[in-house]
Amino acid sequence: MLLETARLRLRPLTAADTDALLTYRGDEEVCRYLPFPPMDAAEIARRLATQWFRTELVEDGEHVTLGAERLDTGELVGDVILFLKSREHGNGEVGWVFSPAVAGQGYATEAAAALVDHAFSGVGLRRLVARLDERNVPSARLCSRLGMRLEARLVDNEYVKGELSTELDYAILEHEWAARRPGRPSADASA
Ligand SMILES: CC(C)(COP(=O)(O)OP(=O)(O)OC[C@H]1O[C@@H](n2cnc3c(N)ncnc32)[C@H](O)[C@@H]1OP(=O)(O)O)[C@@H](O)C(=O)NCCC(=O)NCCS
Repeated sequence: MLLETARLRLRPLTAADTDALLTYRGDEEVCRYLPFPPMDAAEIARRLATQWFRTELVEDGEHVTLGAERLDTGELVGDVILFLKSREHGNGEVGWVFSPAVAGQGYATEAAAALVDHAFSGVGLRRLVARLDERNVPSARLCSRLGMRLEARLVDNEYVKGELSTELDYAILEHEWAARRPGRPSADASA
């Protein structure tokens, strides 16, 4: 899976990305509302050999992670994730993690929009959700920028890093996405 946007290339992660991944996925503040601790080199190597190795969605429960590389500098600035929840029901989930070094420049929105586009037009999904901790305001703002609707607020839903977390569930349907982007070209996609 390879996608291109105005400023980014979305492509599979490789061992050459380890240092860049460590700078943001190894950062405590970046991982604050994520369901895993900051990653070290060993954890990144483990993921590169397992979950991040996958480039196609075949079975329910699988996910693909794509690194977001700046076209101008070649620098890896973040990654986006697409989960296949149910092929039968056309359901998926999206997620994103970006380096604070590029915060506030729209890179995460640009990458997430390309992923949503591909999930609907390439993978053929019908409905996408994003789930986040209520305190994760930047992520909620990103959902709103994508046109996702807030569908649920699950009060004190789960423990995240020892604290109860209230979960917000955002969603968007394929026809809602299409209606927001009349005449907009899809992200270039090739298998
Ligand atoms: C969630 C996260 C990706 C959001 O990062 P972000 O920098 O706010 O998002 P973007 O890169 O899309 O930038 C958007 C900001 O840039 C601004 N911006 C500047 N140029 C822009 C452009 N060309 N397009 C869109 N936005 C632009 C927007 O106005 C917005 O600022 P605002 O929120 O103050 O209004 C980031 O905070 C993160 O990685 N957090 C840690 C991981 C995490 O919690 N992931 C979510 C788990 S559910």
